[in-house]
Amino acid sequence: MVDGRSPGPVVVTGGAGAIGSVLVRELLARGREVRVIDNLSGGRREHLPSLDTKGLSLTVADVKDPTRCSSLFEGAAEVWHLAANSDIRRGTNNPRLDLEDGVLASYCVLEEARRHDVPHAVFSSSSVVYGFPTVFPTPESYGPLRPESLYAAAKLASEAFFSAYAYSYGLRVHMFRFANIIGPAMTHGVLYDFFAKLRADPSRLEVLGDGRQAKSYLRTEDCVAAMLLASDTTPEPVNIFNLGTADRISVREIAEKVVAAHGGRARIEYTGGAQGWVGDVPQQLLAIDRILALGWRPRWTSATAVDKSIAELMTVPPPAAPAA
Ligand SMILES: NC(=O)c1ccc[n+]([C@@H]2O[C@H](COP(=O)([O-])OP(=O)(O)OC[C@H]3O[C@@H](n4cnc5c(N)ncnc54)[C@H](O)[C@@H]3O)[C@@H](O)[C@H]2O)c1
Repeated sequence: MVDGRSPGPVVVTGGAGAIGSVLVRELLARGREVRVIDNLSGGRREHLPSLDTKGLSLTVADVKDPTRCSSLFEGAAEVWHLAANSDIRRGTNNPRLDLEDGVLASYCVLEEARRHDVPHAVFSSSSVVYGFPTVFPTPESYGPLRPESLYAAAKLASEAFFSAYAYSYGLRVHMFRFANIIGPAMTHGVLYDFFAKLRADPSRLEVLGDGRQAKSYLRTEDCVAAMLLASDTTPEPVNIFNLGTADRISVREIAEKVVAAHGGRARIEYTGGAQGWVGDVPQQLLAIDRILALGWRPRWTSATAVDKSIAELMTVPPPAAPAA
């Protein structure tokens, strides 16, 4: 820890989700007391270790409900805020969703952190805050930031609140702009969609766009390791890191890998157009020099991360998506 104090309890919002549940395991392995808040709108209880596990508690509640959540911040050393709508398309279809579960949720978490003197807050932001960048790899200093989805707008607005709370109330904050994070327990994203489509019709795979969209894919384990390292070692009041791999992979290559894993019989059909769907950022590659400078190295490239995730999904099918 940068301040050398003994680590106290950690509040993890969204801890039953795909990334949160990996984070919770890592924190428990470090001997931390972990207080998870999750409304199970997307996450699942079974993603977490057994609730008998020493040091772990789960409160099934909305982070915006102080009557259920406030006491959990008492005496906490850190809050890791991962709870959010995590599916861009759900936010496009329901324009209030990212305002509520993005911006307002972040405000409520920060406000509890302030009221209970929690000294450190960590936020899961996204590379989508860059909008359609014109510089690749895109550095953290890139601007102006022009989000192109309501989800991205909520991430950028939340970053602004985290920054303002840091300078106004003395919290130390870390904000991580993720590439595409993949691993078990995902309920959205390209692999999830492809598996669902092939389950519904094994003879064809519809790909939104021309397949030339190319992005960086990072495994959940690598993502969590990077966040823990940066949050342990960087002492500024406001710390922002891109998290991704140094390479990328096209949607066409991913489609071919998924079809091959299913026996190679499905016909791949492209709907056409550079942007697959409203809210999609077709080209994404993040500059990761800042996190690399701390000594972090991803264990998987984008291609090997995709391969590993496909192999996992072939054995354990993805969970059902949250209700629209
Ligand atoms: N997976 C990615 O590629 C990616 C990329 C960029 C950013 N992120 C961000 O990382 C975080 C975790 O993403 P994930 O992929 O694990 O998604 P996820 O949907 O698996 O996890 C989000 C969790 O938050 C919970 N939640 C949502 N709204 C809540 C609320 N109001 N109160 C309490 N709990 C609530 C859900 O039940 C779920 O368990 C999210 O903030 C997401 O926006 C993810």
